[in-house]
Amino acid sequence: MTTPKLVTASKFTTFNKNTVYVIPVTTKSGKLVVGQSPIETSELATVDLASLGVSAELESMVRVPAPNGATYALVGIGSQPLSKHDLRNLGAASARKLATFKDVVFGFETLDSEDTAAILEGAALGTYAHNAYKGLSKGTEIKLQTATVISSHKPSAAAMNQIQILVESVNLTRDLVNMPGRDLYPETLAKAVQTAAKGSGVSVQIWADDRLAKEGLGGIIGVGQGSSRGPRLVKLEYKPKVGKKHLALVGKGITYDTGGLSLKPALNMLGMNFDMTGAASVAAATIAIAKLQLPIKVTTFLCIAENMPSGTAQRPNDVIKARNGVTIEVLNTDAEGRLVLADGLSLASEEKPDFIVDVATLTGAVQIALGSRYAGIMGDQAAVDAVRDAADEVGEYVWQLPLDKKLRTLIDSEIADIANVRMGNTTGGTIIGGLFLNEFVGNRAKGEDDNIKWAHMDIAATAHNEGAAYGVIPKGATGSYVRTLVALAKQLG
Ligand code: BES
Ligand code: ZN
Ligand code: ZN
Repeated sequence: MTTPKLVTASKFTTFNKNTVYVIPVTTKSGKLVVGQSPIETSELATVDLASLGVSAELESMVRVPAPNGATYALVGIGSQPLSKHDLRNLGAASARKLATFKDVVFGFETLDSEDTAAILEGAALGTYAHNAYKGLSKGTEIKLQTATVISSHKPSAAAMNQIQILVESVNLTRDLVNMPGRDLYPETLAKAVQTAAKGSGVSVQIWADDRLAKEGLGGIIGVGQGSSRGPRLVKLEYKPKVGKKHLALVGKGITYDTGGLSLKPALNMLGMNFDMTGAASVAAATIAIAKLQLPIKVTTFLCIAENMPSGTAQRPNDVIKARNGVTIEVLNTDAEGRLVLADGLSLASEEKPDFIVDVATLTGAVQIALGSRYAGIMGDQAAVDAVRDAADEVGEYVWQLPLDKKLRTLIDSEIADIANVRMGNTTGGTIIGGLFLNEFVGNRAKGEDDNIKWAHMDIAATAHNEGAAYGVIPKGATGSYVRTLVALAKQLG
């Protein structure tokens, strides 16, 4: 995956052949007009825009000839001033639609260097396409080599470097998540993360086989035991030169979720290679945080297994023991994410961090509750607030669900400390998942207080975009919330 080179130019000089110039269109006293632009637009003065189908509506685009064999792309910007999130999305959608050109030049007026950076970041995030598995047929063509914003408000070299690092980590996540389970399984996911972390300052440990048993990771072992391709625990550590705060991240890394012996129906199984999005996201965020040298310690646990049905698979009614000693009655082997996260959250808690954030494609129910554009977040209010602030900062969407403690009795077990599901229950599934995870944070299972602030992000609905691309979101793996996690680390540090 290559991204276009991102450039800023102080002013417009001349039209270049085969280059597309993006021009804003807005309404003024009810009339359609070409907006303020540093690009020469006098050619358009006599053009009847409306008759060409040009509109001021956001995301609309019409192309018309420009001087010197160049092209104008007339893009609707609505009638309100654009926020940096609007600009990022416009930059992304425009660059994606114009990706068959080699060069795209943005002629939006930017008010400051953050605006300029947002357009460039959008252009890079928006021109991702998953072509790795196209054989003889062509994929989505991305020919774009440069994206230029003409503005006197230039981002600093550090800001440009940050965009590069963020885009790389989002695209790393997308590439991993888009891989079929045939190629991406616990061993290869762990190795891919190790490779990506090289030179970033993140140290990587991979635990397999005996080590998992020695460490008492009963959840990861239980979920992984049905597959011929054994589970892994990956620990990533970034220690900054300065910075007192400590953030722990935990990711669900099910490389394929068949449901196990509680097998999913054929239709529900499709897409379950995306069930490792949490792990890919926290890994990519950790690497970005290290490359940006943010002043915060980060310890990250990837809980990786393939959930398969077989003669060695765990059974419904099995009882397993998580790392923190809590015993779990497995009533449904398809509620496996919480089993592997039980170990990950226990390990993270042992590090005594200030904050733990876990990221998981945990429940189909979150899509029923919130639709496909919001992640559900739950947990301690201070941590939830911090995640929400970070998401707001980067233009990603989260919504808090109440972790209602009264629902906890639903997953009482007759024979173990807790059950992984309430069989037959059809309501509040996302909250019940959150309540289950809560038992593995700090000493909460013993009813003791701890000083850890924890938030759980259920990204089951947002990991994958089944519809058409929009804004910075491509088809398939979205790479969402990597930028939120990096912003969170920035805020906490
Ligand atoms: N990986 C799924 C959750 C999921 C569903 C992600 C749809 C993306 C799209 C998870 O492991 C699962 O199967 N959860 C069950 C939980 C239930 C058994 C309590 C679910 O959502 O049905
Ligand atoms: Zn499942
Ligand atoms: Zn799953």
